[in-house]
Amino acid sequence: MSSQAIIDRVEALLSQMTIEEKAGQLTQYFYFGGLPDPEPGIEGGFYPSQLRHFVEEQMKSGGVGSVLFVRDAQELNNLQKLTVERHRLGIPLLVGYDVIHGFKTIFPVPLAVAASFEPAVAERGQSVAAKEARSIGIHWTFAPMVDIARDPRWGRIIESAGEDPYLGAAMAAGQVRGFQGSDLSSGDNVLAGPKHFAAYGASLGGRDYDEVNVSDSELHNVYLPPFEAAAKAGAENFMTAYMGVNGIPATANKYLITEVLRKEWGFKGFLVSDANAVINLITHNFAKDRPSASASALNAGLDMEMAMFDSAYSGIPDAVANGEVSIDVINDAVRRVLTAKAKLGLLDNPYVDVARSEQVLNDPAHRVAAREAAEKTFVLLKNEMKALPLDAAKLKSIAVIGPFANNKRDLLGPWCFAFDLQETVSVYEGIKNKVGDSVTVECAQGVAHERRIHASIFDNDPNNHVHDPADFNEEVEFAKAVNLAKNSDVVVMVLGEQQAQIGEQASRSTFVLPGRQLELLKAVAATGSKVILLVQGARPLDLNWASENIPAIMNIWYPGTSGGTAIANTLFGDVSPAGRLPFTWVRSVGQVPMIYSRHISHEPANSDNRYWNEPGSPLYIFGHGLSYTDFAYSDIKIDKTVLTKSDSLSVEVTVTNSGERDSDEVVQLYIHQRYGTAIRPIRELKGFQRVHIKAGESQKVAFSLTPNELRYWNAAAKGWVNDSSHFDLWVGGSSAAALHTEFEVK
Ligand code: NOJ
Repeated sequence: MSSQAIIDRVEALLSQMTIEEKAGQLTQYFYFGGLPDPEPGIEGGFYPSQLRHFVEEQMKSGGVGSVLFVRDAQELNNLQKLTVERHRLGIPLLVGYDVIHGFKTIFPVPLAVAASFEPAVAERGQSVAAKEARSIGIHWTFAPMVDIARDPRWGRIIESAGEDPYLGAAMAAGQVRGFQGSDLSSGDNVLAGPKHFAAYGASLGGRDYDEVNVSDSELHNVYLPPFEAAAKAGAENFMTAYMGVNGIPATANKYLITEVLRKEWGFKGFLVSDANAVINLITHNFAKDRPSASASALNAGLDMEMAMFDSAYSGIPDAVANGEVSIDVINDAVRRVLTAKAKLGLLDNPYVDVARSEQVLNDPAHRVAAREAAEKTFVLLKNEMKALPLDAAKLKSIAVIGPFANNKRDLLGPWCFAFDLQETVSVYEGIKNKVGDSVTVECAQGVAHERRIHASIFDNDPNNHVHDPADFNEEVEFAKAVNLAKNSDVVVMVLGEQQAQIGEQASRSTFVLPGRQLELLKAVAATGSKVILLVQGARPLDLNWASENIPAIMNIWYPGTSGGTAIANTLFGDVSPAGRLPFTWVRSVGQVPMIYSRHISHEPANSDNRYWNEPGSPLYIFGHGLSYTDFAYSDIKIDKTVLTKSDSLSVEVTVTNSGERDSDEVVQLYIHQRYGTAIRPIRELKGFQRVHIKAGESQKVAFSLTPNELRYWNAAAKGWVNDSSHFDLWVGGSSAAALHTEFEVK
């Protein structure tokens, strides 16, 4: 449809709508397709069937514009038919879903993809996810999550790209491109909805949904850049966050929504609240009642309300009648929602071809893409005496030990629902498939899963349950595992956190390995067998003992459907790991927050001695990650040493693979501004490239630093500035990059 045709279509509908229908068009309800009701008597359980009935009743009066959480093509076709037939205007539903890291084919979690330092990995993965989701009738994903996460107690760090705004911005844009593609009506793409606008990652104490108090400087320099990048990449939707930002709820934050997002960045799409966040304006002690909650959100610039059981927007007619919000504001919001439906082609055909969706969901190329993505994400933290890669020809027996050795659901990570466990490859299976019959591969769980002290919000979905059997005897299993280790040439231990122990409502006040996992690791190491430790997790779990005592440690994140195959390919050297840490790996919770891009202050030489009881340095630095080879950096060249504020700088460096194996390397560029009108961080990432270099070969890698990379938001000037200053520039394989040059901006 041409843009004029879209406008005509939207205006024609709008002109026929009553105020109640407009409020309905702006309301999104949870539908929980296919979710069974809990057993009677379960405390706190809710009844999806009641909610479905309620939503279907709303359709009769045009009281619902959008639903979320349906994952079946036939069910969605039925629902669209019901919506279209039950109401005189017959406006189809916009269907949303949390497609975070895959729909049926599960890709590594977003933090893992950030560790690839390759935005194309994010783009490819999300384009597969979009294709699968759209094939069943989902039009819109609540992703990417682009919140900067500097507090790994916060469970939602897993959905983010970690601590750095430059990396975060690149990953945000890559994901938006992947989800949306170039044509939303093609039937293979979905609307992207970057979230949670804004600064949700800074919640106090890492506690989910808690208040956020950030300085203007942090807001603009750290938390907003990934959102701006997502908007500039063309995201059609944004989701507002739950909490207050410096005292004003994000969902009624006119400064953020209207001044920054719409006016400064030119965002033209529609905004949705997080679930129940409009009605929460009352809970926040901000709005008096439903009409005033609706009015404050709409006046701030919000369009759609995501409601769960109850909608604040039912108060819209009263809010208009009593003058709290104007009809023009409502009309603009409805226009934006209808425009999204038109762009997607829904006004012409809201149905999908169920047979085609089966084909799309079962496309074997998607599993291959998930494996390739996973192989890019692993971070080799330590590899003493070249403990890795393993050589299958030299082994007779391998033990795969730990609660995640042969555990499929947890390998997928949180925030996925439509996965297929049959096609998911565990670590044990991946290794067994890889080495064939000549090597004995056995596995043992060893220890029980330590459970959360309260249920996860996702436990309502039966697919999410991973419980040990009632007769699991930890003493017996522990002894079995140690015995197996004793009798094996090599032990691959898979330790970490369950998927329900990280993610939404899964913050944590300690980073120790849950349950008796450390005890098991020590007992296995004491057998004298060679131990390779794989860490399944997305926060800096406590590896203090392991980093001293285990020769090889690799962080595998939650690698998804083809995770076990990708891990085996990496352990046995078909692939060299090259992922890098997208966050600073602290030694203990007490060090949080700790970031590489800190500001320098009194006695900088002493800055690693700030705690008297442990080093003030992290266990592993941002950008760290080893490979199976070595890289050397040389010949740094810049095209000028003095530039004006509007000049760009070209940087070139030679990277040599000086080892014996082909490998990727993540080349990272950092800068530091020596003086100016504000204090700047000691280092800031301002460029990176992942390159593949064959053993013994060299490659020239080029970067361009534009005025954009050199500017920052200055609290004194209350705006963006480019200072005159001298700058340091380093290029290397981590945030400790050593190859240095300098330049001046006049
Ligand atoms: C609440 C979460 O904060 C948000 O990220 C998610 O998209 C919605 N629920 C819908 O599931």
